Amino acid sequence: MKIISLFSGCGGLDLGFKKAGFNIVWANDFDKDAVKTYQKNLGMEIVLGDITKISSSNIPDNPDVVLGGFPCQGFSVANNKRSMEDKRNFLYKELLRVVKDKKPKVVLGENVKGILSMNKGKVIDMIISDFKDIGYKLKVYKIDASEYDVPQKRERVLFIAVKNNNEFTLNLKKSSKIKTVKDTIFDLYNLPISYNPIIDNDRIIYNHIASTNVHDKFWGRKYKVNQYDICDYLKKWRKKAAISTKKIDDIFGYKHTAGHWFRKDNNSGSIPKPSDWWKLKGILKFDDTYDKHVTELEEKEIKFEQSLRITNWDTPSDTITATSPEIHINKQRRLSVRECARLQTFPDDFIFKGSLNSMYRQIGNAVPPVLSFKLATQIKDFIKNVN
Ligand SMILES: C[S@@+](CC[C@H](N)C(=O)[O-])C[C@H]1O[C@@H](n2cnc3c(N)ncnc32)[C@H](O)[C@@H]1O
Repeated sequence: MKIISLFSGCGGLDLGFKKAGFNIVWANDFDKDAVKTYQKNLGMEIVLGDITKISSSNIPDNPDVVLGGFPCQGFSVANNKRSMEDKRNFLYKELLRVVKDKKPKVVLGENVKGILSMNKGKVIDMIISDFKDIGYKLKVYKIDASEYDVPQKRERVLFIAVKNNNEFTLNLKKSSKIKTVKDTIFDLYNLPISYNPIIDNDRIIYNHIASTNVHDKFWGRKYKVNQYDICDYLKKWRKKAAISTKKIDDIFGYKHTAGHWFRKDNNSGSIPKPSDWWKLKGILKFDDTYDKHVTELEEKEIKFEQSLRITNWDTPSDTITATSPEIHINKQRRLSVRECARLQTFPDDFIFKGSLNSMYRQIGNAVPPVLSFKLATQIKDFIKNVN
């Protein structure tokens, strides 16, 4: 049974399907680290690239299933700017396009529960009706992963669509025992965190690395400052000094940092830290316009509500999100990448690639493979009985 996988990420959803015996024939994501992780663990090539730029003719024909855990940030209730205009909301249309062109027997998508209430339910109505127009009956299920052998409260929405003349109803069996955090990660309690694999008696533990930022205060800029303004300003002075960003990186001994100071882009542009600012001033000889704004710091409270939560030992964990996991019960660090992976039911031999934040993101974005396996099993049985 063949699968086309869109928005594959590190492969959480795909792993469950692979374990259930499906054959993934094509997968795609545009995140380099996720693609590396996917290739290493799913053991197959995955196309790195933006799906909006990939034509359907480059995607194999006749899949049985199309998987599409399309990005959820635009839909999440945690995101204040959620609206129908958010460009990411329409990435699901890419899923729609592929389904229309490839006509699989089953389509499975996953999203955050915020999508149900978005625009007073209009978004979900739009998705159902879009699928109907291309010949698919789409059903929506709200589930909490902790009821299905996942040691984590994770409320998500599943979309399962089948061709109009077929009927499919998801019927997951709830687990009899709820798994707790302690059940899941206690054996890692005393292991030191490390970027390198840890050899512990007869086992090797990978990715037991964690953020140690567990304070409720941080040093932030005292005055409001806009990255675009600083960027324009620095660019002007760099031109005057006739010096390349590469040369600046060489002087600092950085790889690409200077590039980010001269880039106007919300995701990757950055303002130099105070010590770099003074050093840069020595090189570019700029005036005092922004000295105060960039270099005067004060202690600020961390506001993000999840950032200081300490994990509960005797319950399922809170949702493993894409950023800043909860603080470990020992209070000296956050949950490690491996602990987050365990709480998301990734096996211990699933190894994540990329920086610490990238690994946290890949895991937080994933569908727990144990849940995915259960979905895959039901979908497999359904496919066996349709033509
Ligand atoms: C919610 S995650 C999917 C996680 C995956 N289903 C799993 O279980 O591991 C969404 C993924 O969509 C990818 N993505 C977002 N926009 C994309 C685009 N335009 N083209 C390709 N991939 C994209 C992101 O990099 C992210 O990995």
